Amino acid sequence: QTKTGNDITSQQPTPSKETPKVQKHIIKKGIKDFKFGTVIGDGAYSTVILATSIDTKKKYAAKVLNKEYLIRQKKVKYVSIEKTALQKLNNSHSVVRLFSTFQDESSLYFLLEYAPNGDFLSLMKKNGSLDENCACYYGAQIIDAIDYLHSNGIIHRDIKPENILLDEEMRIKLTDFGTAKLLDSTVSSTSKQKYDLSTRSKSFVGTAEYVSPELLNDSFTDYRCDIWAFGCILFQMIAGKPPFKATNEYLTFQKVMKVQYAFTPGFPLIIRDLVKKILIKNLDQRLTISQIKEHYFFKEVNFKDGTLWSKIPPEIK
Ligand code: ADE
Repeated sequence: QTKTGNDITSQQPTPSKETPKVQKHIIKKGIKDFKFGTVIGDGAYSTVILATSIDTKKKYAAKVLNKEYLIRQKKVKYVSIEKTALQKLNNSHSVVRLFSTFQDESSLYFLLEYAPNGDFLSLMKKNGSLDENCACYYGAQIIDAIDYLHSNGIIHRDIKPENILLDEEMRIKLTDFGTAKLLDSTVSSTSKQKYDLSTRSKSFVGTAEYVSPELLNDSFTDYRCDIWAFGCILFQMIAGKPPFKATNEYLTFQKVMKVQYAFTPGFPLIIRDLVKKILIKNLDQRLTISQIKEHYFFKEVNFKDGTLWSKIPPEIK
């Protein structure tokens, strides 16, 4: 027997008084409605499998989590955080969509939007590195996506190239919200939701190469850890490797704490300037998202009208 979770795609209008007595039954989709194919992703607690709707032939990415394993590893909380975050961010083109959740005896299933062009790490690896034009196109989308999360009260905390997927139009989509932090909201006088961005949380270490020095130094971090990770990714696009990389995690952490990195020969000066202003240990001196968007490197990007999301992707040379 398959139980269906709250299917957020089948939002039905609230029945009015005139609703006829005999209603058409709306049968929610379940696991049996999909044909499971190859494994397309792997996480610490999950496996992502390509799932095709038997009915519509539409492709999805099904994230499968083993319940017993989650309980044993005390990771149940992270699954609910991921679901809450994805539901909250569900209308954005910059985050993978969550269509529904299911469960059976052994597993939990997240039916996610399928991003057919792989992840950003593979894209960079395939090409060694990206040119300035590509760095501008992808960099603008990544920072705009992070901005969107923060304005919705969500800190990702594990922003890295593997968690940035590419859709059919080569637009980026953030994924993997299992380690996100959901900020408390307050209602301001304008009745607009505001979030306490000053929240500092004792947190886990994301991924060594992209972790911020404040997390390593005092085990506390806030939304600015995502901006640090963006700086690391921007560096990596040009250099072909992340700025802080060593033979083991311990040595990587030491480099992060000392902010010890070197630009590769020919690294464009304008991106050098931007990276230098992001990879700053002092949180108050690190550039804010607005300042990054205003940097000369992004002078040709219009962040206000959203056109950066409908541009023809640059050719990768
Ligand atoms: N790998 C992990 N999640 C994925 C998704 N949503 N689409 C494609 N590949 C993925």
